Amino acid sequence: MRYQLYIDGKFVPPRSSKWFDSYNPYTGEPWAEIPKGSCEDVDSAVRVAHKAFTQGPWASMTASQRGLLLYKLGDLIGRDARKLAEVEVRDNGKLIAEMQGQLNYIPQWYYYFGGLADKVQGAVVPLDKKGYFNFTRHEPLGVVAVITPWNSPLLLATWKLAPALAAGCTVVIKPSEFTSASTLEFAKLFEEAGFPEGVFNVVTGFGKDVGVPLVEHPLVKKISFTGSDETGRVINQLAAKQFKHVSLELGGKSANFVFDDANLDDAVNGAISGIFAATGQTCIAGSRLLLQQTIHDQFLDRLLTLARTARMGDPMRMETQVGPITTQPQYQKILGYIDVAKKDGAELVMGGTPSKRPECGNGWFIEPTIFANVTSHMRIAQEEVFGPVLSVIKFKNEDEAIAIANDSRFGLGSGVWTSDIGRAHRMAERIQAGTVWVNCYRAVSYMSPFGGYKDSGIGRENGIDAVREYLQTKSVWINTGAVTANPFVMR
Ligand code: NAI
Ligand code: MG
Repeated sequence: MRYQLYIDGKFVPPRSSKWFDSYNPYTGEPWAEIPKGSCEDVDSAVRVAHKAFTQGPWASMTASQRGLLLYKLGDLIGRDARKLAEVEVRDNGKLIAEMQGQLNYIPQWYYYFGGLADKVQGAVVPLDKKGYFNFTRHEPLGVVAVITPWNSPLLLATWKLAPALAAGCTVVIKPSEFTSASTLEFAKLFEEAGFPEGVFNVVTGFGKDVGVPLVEHPLVKKISFTGSDETGRVINQLAAKQFKHVSLELGGKSANFVFDDANLDDAVNGAISGIFAATGQTCIAGSRLLLQQTIHDQFLDRLLTLARTARMGDPMRMETQVGPITTQPQYQKILGYIDVAKKDGAELVMGGTPSKRPECGNGWFIEPTIFANVTSHMRIAQEEVFGPVLSVIKFKNEDEAIAIANDSRFGLGSGVWTSDIGRAHRMAERIQAGTVWVNCYRAVSYMSPFGGYKDSGIGRENGIDAVREYLQTKSVWINTGAVTANPFVMR
């Protein structure tokens, strides 16, 4: 399968005339050829996106018309959900059981933001000065560079595309070099939905060849990025040189607390879903499990009992529960962290090795791994592993739990398991994280704001305000009779 770039409404070969392989992590074999984009491809994509933003039919459409296009796109995604899900499973190793649900849910983002497009209203400001009328307009920023990671390509692209297009921006997207296929499949739907040429463009390739020139291109006004904090920092520095707007959704080391008053059956499920769902390859992974001392031992037993039942293997099978690691470098990185944790003195109580199960074949599988007796100063408690590796940490009371949880440079998600409503509220207030789940974990919605505290990022996605991330405000003053008393003095 050889893919092409998508620029100006057409599938075109890369200027380099080069392609690179994308692998199926379940087989460890290449299955698709992805165009190796370069700064020339970036330049042409950004130019057509700029033209579409300033001169094309997109620029003169009403917000209601833009909204209808987003609705149409949502319908087409729903129609092709199965096919898109399968591409993602093949390229990424995500479970079909998860991807089907995800692809059936993704249209809601396009419906929600499509509906919001024509409800972005300015305000009439009740001025303190006589003789003026003042109002605000919210205008789209321009060309948006969307840069996505490999763990959930279509969902994370959608979180950016739906509000950006609703706002009236145009987009050049660079998916991860490890998982570009689904975004290129997705591009086919834009023409069918009736989007004008140049509104949506895809340039695939590597960070230095495509990502950097995209971020640096003077016609790009905003960068919306999800990925590692290292790359987020580089992008933020490059963007600062031209005062570009940025949204950065970066990593996490989310704390999932279990108190002794919790419903422990639910909490065990929540702890498992926090770390082994999506093979731990999610920014919101509940990779630090904080257990209250009084229930620590019994909880760990129950956790191990459930974790041992995890069915690994072919992600295309509905019954599989833990799939492969998406990329080979990530596979190596996770094994490296397992070594680091052992050397730092964490106690390996489950897994810790590549999977030798027959149903895992030659894929990049790692056994669900649990470390107990982890303390905050260990690297495994501080750094994002991005894999099926859980660190279990003991605490005595709320104060100690909060101190441990907030002793992290990250602050993306968090979970609190308790049956005490007062405690739930106290914890929700004290934890430094963008999302707090009480007696649940890993719930997201197009309606609810999502983003990070501290090194977990800048800006919020989802929810009514997400569209603001793609707009800038203009203040318009009309003189209705004000008299300039003294032209040398500001009033
Ligand atoms: P990355 O952050 O380097 O890549 C994300 C995207 O940024 C990709 O499309 C990549 O090509 C692009 N990129 C890389 N360098 C760039 C640059 N200088 N300018 C512009 N774009 C650039 O993540 P990578 O290398 O795929 O994974 C590394 C680690 O990041 C993982 O091991 C994991 O710990 C973490 N990660 C976190 C994610 C999250 O959702 N928070 C998602 C994916 C990875
Ligand atoms: Mg792949």
